[in-house]
Amino acid sequence: MLTDIKNKIAQKLSPHLDVGDEELASLLEIPKNFQHGDLALPIFFLAKKLRKAPPQIAIEISEKVNALDLPEIESVNALSGFVNFKLKWSFMADNLISAMQDPLKIGFSKKGVGKTLVIDFSSPNVAKRMTVGHLRATVIGQSIYNLAKSQSYKVIGLNHLGDWGTQFGKLAWAMDNWGSDYSLDSDPMRALTEMYVRFHDEAEKNPELEKQGAAYFRRLEAGDENVVQLWKKIVELSMADYNRLWKLLGVKHDLVLGESFYNDQLKPTEKLLEDKNLLEESEGAMVVKLGDDKPPCLIRKTDGASLYATRDIASAIYRHDVLKADLNLYVTGQEQTLHFQQVFEVLKKMGFDWAESCHHISFGLYRFKDIGKMSTRKGNVIHLEDVLNRAIDTIQKVIDQKNPELVDRKKIAEQVGVGAVIFNDLLNDRTKNVEFDWDRALSFEGDSGPYVQYVVVRCKSILRKYNRNLPNKFDVELESPEERELMLKLLSLDEVLVQSFKGFKPHILANYLLDVCRVYNQFYHKCRILDQEESLANARAKLVEATEVILIQGLKILNIQSPEFM
Ligand code: ARG
Repeated sequence: MLTDIKNKIAQKLSPHLDVGDEELASLLEIPKNFQHGDLALPIFFLAKKLRKAPPQIAIEISEKVNALDLPEIESVNALSGFVNFKLKWSFMADNLISAMQDPLKIGFSKKGVGKTLVIDFSSPNVAKRMTVGHLRATVIGQSIYNLAKSQSYKVIGLNHLGDWGTQFGKLAWAMDNWGSDYSLDSDPMRALTEMYVRFHDEAEKNPELEKQGAAYFRRLEAGDENVVQLWKKIVELSMADYNRLWKLLGVKHDLVLGESFYNDQLKPTEKLLEDKNLLEESEGAMVVKLGDDKPPCLIRKTDGASLYATRDIASAIYRHDVLKADLNLYVTGQEQTLHFQQVFEVLKKMGFDWAESCHHISFGLYRFKDIGKMSTRKGNVIHLEDVLNRAIDTIQKVIDQKNPELVDRKKIAEQVGVGAVIFNDLLNDRTKNVEFDWDRALSFEGDSGPYVQYVVVRCKSILRKYNRNLPNKFDVELESPEERELMLKLLSLDEVLVQSFKGFKPHILANYLLDVCRVYNQFYHKCRILDQEESLANARAKLVEATEVILIQGLKILNIQSPEFM
């Protein structure tokens, strides 16, 4: 794809330009103005070296390259400080054809070979339903997971389930004492939430309850069989709820290592901190001080209980030592920025230089333009499942109306509805807040998931209508600007994946897919495919096929399915 093309051009030119081929390849870019050519070399960097004005150098280089008469280059011209190349169609076309040989890996790179990336994502807190907050942690996480795979990393998707802490002592106590008042069969998450709320209400009147809860947590930490059974039940019920949603979202973790998993590693972790003289007492609690401008990192509470941060320190060490993470990513909201700064800082103080490879992949909030039916529950929490269901229902109605004959309507509504929610999220730079506008997210025409899926469906339908086995080559040159622009856009997938992974920014890929759709539509309106002379029709149909393959690949990396029909 584009990387190979740039490398090839750079190798050919480098001996004549007195610049290393790698440097040259990294400088080549697609010109902003498409009319200028397929690739451009900005000259400014050479000006110092050659002590001439960039426009003068550009002219000299273009003359030199023209004289070389390379099989990859159609023509060269100088334009102010740039040398612009028009590539031979066959050079681009052969490259695309060869990339299409393996559609499942199209656009992939080998940059991460031999390296392990651990990504902690979705990781909800047990006994609570997932909210829209978890939607972001889930879909951003899964797409970065997929992006890392596209770069050939060994990827370990980790569920750092929030299953430990004093609240589970309280809940276990409530289960033990009030469990018979609730049915855990029909809506267990609701029962758990109600018990938890009841515990807090009653504890306000009767402070004794807090002590009971704390005692239950201590029993849990000590491995008391009864309390452990109650706790296991809570985790099991919650996981069943999450698994249903993860399935709907196409999410799969490789490992579930909840906070409880680190229970037996907490004392050794504290010991390590102590040995390194980092642990200090502060108002009865144990902390690591982090300098005057930052709050200290709390390691152990006055009552001896461990904390979220303690478990994260133990977990980071585990990810490095046991999972062999070269990169360790945490996908959670901005509100946890301070927490992760503290954890990483403590790791640095412990002398772990690998702390540099830990990154908090944070994201902004959701703002709903029209909350409508979404805010019925207490506390204004919007549940992830409600958002997905509303999207699926709305799409179902659109499909029922537009295409009542469609088979498998339910499944398609699910693919499109869920895809719409995912795409709407990933289209935004993750660090910004998401303005959730239902109409826009679910539209079949705007900058939406359904729109991209619809372009794929249209490509498929054209190819069905054309109904011919396409040769694995382009027999003719496609010369219109629309065709060339589409070709170049499709070839860019590999660079887009590299960029998108580099900043852990799926929105770069999502925006690229919209761009492909735009350029494809331009091509489709300008260039007839059916009823043309055969080799021309074949070549155009091949571009349609490539568009389909590349859009499907991009959607898949964003964890969005592509229906056959819609
Ligand atoms: N359970 C946390 C939450 O729901 C997210 C956990 C993120 N991962 C971590 N290692 N702290 O907010």
